[in-house]
Amino acid sequence: MALTFDLVPNTTRTPATDIAAIFENPGFVNHFSDHMAIAEWTSEGGWDKARVVNYGPFPLAPGAAVLHYGQEIFEGLKVYRHADGSLWSFRPEMNARRFIKSCERMALPTLPEEDFLASILALIRADEAWVPSGEEMSYYVRPYMFASDAFLGVHAGAKITYAVIGGPAGAYFSSGLAGVDIWVTTTYSRAGEGGTGAAKCGGNYASSLIAQQEGAEHGCSQVLFSDAASHEWVEELGGMNFFAVTTDGRLVTPPTSGTILDGVTRNSVLTLAPEFGLTPDVRPLSLSELYAGIDSGTIVEAFACGTAAVITPITSLVYEREGAESKLTLPNPEGEKTLAIRAALVDIQWGRAEDRYGWMHKVSA
Ligand code: COI
Repeated sequence: MALTFDLVPNTTRTPATDIAAIFENPGFVNHFSDHMAIAEWTSEGGWDKARVVNYGPFPLAPGAAVLHYGQEIFEGLKVYRHADGSLWSFRPEMNARRFIKSCERMALPTLPEEDFLASILALIRADEAWVPSGEEMSYYVRPYMFASDAFLGVHAGAKITYAVIGGPAGAYFSSGLAGVDIWVTTTYSRAGEGGTGAAKCGGNYASSLIAQQEGAEHGCSQVLFSDAASHEWVEELGGMNFFAVTTDGRLVTPPTSGTILDGVTRNSVLTLAPEFGLTPDVRPLSLSELYAGIDSGTIVEAFACGTAAVITPITSLVYEREGAESKLTLPNPEGEKTLAIRAALVDIQWGRAEDRYGWMHKVSA
């Protein structure tokens, strides 16, 4: 039976003036809205206890399995306030389906698509006042699930917590549309064959942090991973997918094998590309082809894309060659095609252009 996420009465609310102050400078979800949707699963009873309560700490045992073995997954999607005040989410059913796949990979109980969507709707209805309007502003929704029972044997949890939290979000990168420099690591890997690369689990992001730090030491704000077996093939960035634009009008991105996350923004970009004279070219891309293409000018633009990052031009690739730092600047670092695709996407998301692919879902009453 479908879950009903009812609002527990008498929850407290942040005054409108305080929310307005947060909207002035939200960062990327530095503040969470007043409520969270929550449900619990037990191996005996299945999903139960769905509700919307005040955002606040979980009563979590120090022995809770998630703290030891990382049995956890998450999703990320955004809600946009259109000019008429209505609220809209972007392709949430894709997040629901990917969440199910992540559950399966991480031996977590699946949450039916309708319950996933109902939990988001219930949270947004409770926290409508927290959805900002204005350029680059949205409300970022974070559904997640983790093993909450306490034990130290390595096995799947029998008590699972599902929750949805969220808060106002501005641009993910402080550089905004000016673009980002990317560190290419061939020391660390994000995922291997048969691993968890295609699942959205916290461990993938935790393991990317050391490479991210290495990148920061080289002045870069993101890291590009290659395949674990040979370090020859482009995979994805620490928290986003990777695209390259060629002079002969191809939009190249590696296929989402078991090691690359099947991004919702990635999928949308591939759909929009032909509108800009670009032919989607989903195929393995080697680092040597990428470097040679940038060097010779046949690869003119590259960009990072994801829910958080939207579409952000890549200005340069920085990597280590023969023990020294090497830097390749993209021929078109401003990203002319990149920004055109971005504008088309965000115009749909903010309701400024026709929703020609049926991507938007109304979430306000
Ligand atoms: C997203 O794009 O929503 C992600 O989950 C990635 C992370 C950088 C926040």
